Amino acid sequence: MDFFRIEGGRRLSGRVRIEGAKNAALPLMAACLLTDQPVTLRNIKPLADIANMGRLLAELGVDVRPAAGGLTLHSTDPNRVHARYDIVRTMRASICVLGPMLAHRRKAMVSMPGGCAFGHRPVDLHLRGLEALGAKIELRGGDILATCDRLKGNTVFLGGPFGSTVLGTANVLSAAVLAKGRTVIECAACEPEVVELANMLTAMGAKIQGAGSPRLVVDGVDELGGVDHVVMPDRIVAGTYAAAAAITNGDVTLDDFPYDALLASIQHFREIGVHVDRVSGDDPMRCTVRVTSERNLKPTTITTQPHPGFPTDLQAQFMALLCLAEGNSVITEKIYPERFMHVAELMRMGAQLYRQGPTVVVAGGHKLIGAPVMASDLRASASLVLAGLAAEGETIVNRVYHLDRGYHRMEETLNALGARVERLKEEKPQPVEGEPVRGAGSSVATAQFM
Ligand code: EPU
Repeated sequence: MDFFRIEGGRRLSGRVRIEGAKNAALPLMAACLLTDQPVTLRNIKPLADIANMGRLLAELGVDVRPAAGGLTLHSTDPNRVHARYDIVRTMRASICVLGPMLAHRRKAMVSMPGGCAFGHRPVDLHLRGLEALGAKIELRGGDILATCDRLKGNTVFLGGPFGSTVLGTANVLSAAVLAKGRTVIECAACEPEVVELANMLTAMGAKIQGAGSPRLVVDGVDELGGVDHVVMPDRIVAGTYAAAAAITNGDVTLDDFPYDALLASIQHFREIGVHVDRVSGDDPMRCTVRVTSERNLKPTTITTQPHPGFPTDLQAQFMALLCLAEGNSVITEKIYPERFMHVAELMRMGAQLYRQGPTVVVAGGHKLIGAPVMASDLRASASLVLAGLAAEGETIVNRVYHLDRGYHRMEETLNALGARVERLKEEKPQPVEGEPVRGAGSSVATAQFM
């Protein structure tokens, strides 16, 4: 297993281009199951999750080939409909093959995703939506077995206890495009990744209105064609590198910055004294910004919400940043009330954090001190790396395979900006209390972390 050794206290400066969005790419990849024509996706980095989705699609009869800057996916064998536990358990986003496979092949068997590192993450809304379109759904040996004749349009309410669902909306939307008649999805997720999916499906011949609003109207078509699509930049990667600039009191220019997708985060950066200034670019989803910060950061109050609210996927990174603010900040997690694995690890580095249920008070103004810490999910890992960049002395971030799921060679990007981050290999994995012991050389995560 790889780990990072970070020498803290170096100011970042320079320029970074933001890579394509993993969370947009995964449902776009699954959408290749909706057509017999090739789908080419560009601006994709070879992240672990992208590779896993490629493996899953190959098992589902898709020919997966490299293309310039990405992949070409061509569904050629519609008889292979089983998304097996062995792959699904490595990545929750595997669930997004369910809607496209069902709509086009009329049968799909997808292993039911289990719990994940930040709590119970049900898929009831995905299933409710597909049932409303006429799917017959049963649970068989841990697999969701979904069958249908041609799906039929209907009105579907996709709201749950925490608001809308991003991948649930992607699943139902992808199924509705081939259903007979009109589907109305109410309480649809408004995330930019859903808009991206709607744009690509439209380019394939789908008829969709309202993308980016909570009401999607879909008029089903008989078939979809292929497409060549450039994936949008990753808003969470963009927010993470902006936070890296801020936490080191740096001066970093970010190209292909999806400004319009990050308005709530930019507002919070400004409140605490971090400047995110638009330098150039007419496209609000791919512009150039310069990130600098005031010497003394101010505290703030953050509540995570569905888009366009503050994203849960930047909560951990902002927590690291707010450790350095002069005063007390309050962070409330409203999407995943248990998504706080980074709290105990940041405290090992001297952070003063007080958690009660879904809320953490960050008592700022205490310096961070390097320590060995353990990454436990993708964004928690990013937060520990940020803390390590700002900390006095050396920080060891163990298990960076979590980080590799969503950031392409983060250490290389940070080092090009002047950081000192070394990727090293653990010789012999030590058994960890409460976890199954793995053989040396095994790097497969046993839980789901998406
Ligand atoms: N929920 C339900 N029932 C469902 C589905 C969701 O109750 O059937 C609840 C969830 O438990 C959660 C809330 O609804 O409390 C929102 O979950 P959502 O379904 O929107 O999450 P997701 O679609 O599974 C995507 C991202 C996550 C991101 C969330 C929220 C991908 C591949 N994953 O997950 O990204 O946190 O939306 O924005 O797009 C990450 O990148 O680190 C990550 C976890």
